Amino acid sequence: MKSSHKPLIINGKQIASEILEELKHEISDLRAKKVTPGLAVVLVGDNPASEVYVRNKRKTCEELGIDSFAYDLPDTCSEKKLLKLIDKLNADPKIHGILVQLPLPRHINEKRILEAILPEKDVDGFHPVNVGRLLNGEDCFVSCTPAGCHALLLRSGIKPAGKHVVIVGRSNIVGKPLAALLMQKAANANATVTICHSNTRNMSKYTQEADILVAAMGVPEFIKPRMVREGAVVIDVGVNRISDPTRKSGNRLVGDVAFSGVSKKAKAITPVPGGVGPMTIAMLMKNTVKAVHMTLAKR
Ligand code: GUN
Repeated sequence: MKSSHKPLIINGKQIASEILEELKHEISDLRAKKVTPGLAVVLVGDNPASEVYVRNKRKTCEELGIDSFAYDLPDTCSEKKLLKLIDKLNADPKIHGILVQLPLPRHINEKRILEAILPEKDVDGFHPVNVGRLLNGEDCFVSCTPAGCHALLLRSGIKPAGKHVVIVGRSNIVGKPLAALLMQKAANANATVTICHSNTRNMSKYTQEADILVAAMGVPEFIKPRMVREGAVVIDVGVNRISDPTRKSGNRLVGDVAFSGVSKKAKAITPVPGGVGPMTIAMLMKNTVKAVHMTLAKR
């Protein structure tokens, strides 16, 4: 039987703005104590999508009272030069967090760059020390998109404990850390987690089992209604620009979920845009404030 009720459309923009409002107060308390959070945002090259992300990150810093230090380097920047910049930022006490926007140009070894960032300034949570701590269930920086998905669930009143969470996608940025986060032995986690990927046979068998289905494989509208259980919660991490001649721009953004059909079956679903996206930035700001508190605790 099809559900007759309308699904809850999880408003990521609204939830993110609530988190940013909370952070604003926390930052103003810090500033009153003469501590101004500082975030270095490094962009290499001219990837148009990265430029948009970086602009939004810097703008949000400004709105919150975080000092944003912008480093825009040309596509031709050498790995050595970038490593030197990271060393400088690591040593700078005004900078609490360092973010290097990915992807990097092909001639730069991404792994080497991410490993050069001090783990205590790694607000993106990409350093192997933070990834390891996450897996061990220790306090650490959790990468922003998985942290955003988790916060979105909790703040929508959806508790992962005991639920079957099926994540489609096994990236280091989303799928793997989200699995680690939700399987944690912790009151806000405690989920049973399955990861599916491009080599999974009979994927629908797994996705249809999901109480909470997370689409994070980067394929436009991959998750079809028949793959989703009636009453499931669906979190769409995908951001894909597809051609749409009916639009003035000639294109539009879609997620990894075929929204119109899937929303008829889901109990709750995130839209694209306005779902997970805004949460990613909010979590970056939260991690930056966390980095400040870590510095203060060490004083
Ligand atoms: N590129 C796509 N997502 C991200 C992210 O969360 N952080 C960084 N640094 N780059 C990205």
